[in-house]
Amino acid sequence: MSRLSPAARKALLTLHLVTSLGWLGADLVLLTLGIVGLRGADPAVVYPAAGLVVTYLFAPLSVVVWLVGVATALLTPWGLLRWRWVLVKLVLTTVMLGLVLLLLMPTVRGLGELGPAVTTRDRLDLVIPPMVSTSVLIVATVLSTYKPWGRRRVRAGGNRRPVAAGRP
Ligand code: HEM
Repeated sequence: MSRLSPAARKALLTLHLVTSLGWLGADLVLLTLGIVGLRGADPAVVYPAAGLVVTYLFAPLSVVVWLVGVATALLTPWGLLRWRWVLVKLVLTTVMLGLVLLLLMPTVRGLGELGPAVTTRDRLDLVIPPMVSTSVLIVATVLSTYKPWGRRRVRAGGNRRPVAAGRP
């Protein structure tokens, strides 16, 4: 059962959309910087700029998206673990949050410090991860709109009973 009024639920959903699709937009900015860097743009411009985007936009948004996503699930009838599409989004977003904070942020900041010494191998570090994460976020968006696979239900006896996809 929803614990929010219809107006509050719409406001929360709006916040969820603005933050999660803003995250996708920030990811595309990183990918763009990565591609121009790979094509030979000045590393003294590209990688410090990418470092700023990761530090002040992408990484903070990753945390906000996770928190708002979890709140959106818990405070609406969807629930966090009830529907497969919500659960898969939770897993994807959690893995991505970990990779952004533990791998991408330190790597991109390190690229900014390398200056002209940056190699092609280094430049790929700002192409491949954003390509993967952009794909993951597009998958999350598609899952959100199509809501496939129905719901998970664990009965008292422990049996899972799949129910057709639809509204909760
Ligand atoms: C912790 C991760 C996330 C969870 C638990 C989550 C959960 C949810 C839930 C429960 C809804 C339905 C809200 C409602 O009907 O009021 C929703 C909607 C939506 N989510 Fe997420 N979300 C997460 C991450 C994401 C991400 C990363 C994206 C895209 C980049 C995304 C895109 C959307 C979209 C586009 C909708 C609107 C779907 C519609 O209204 O038909 N979500 N999300």
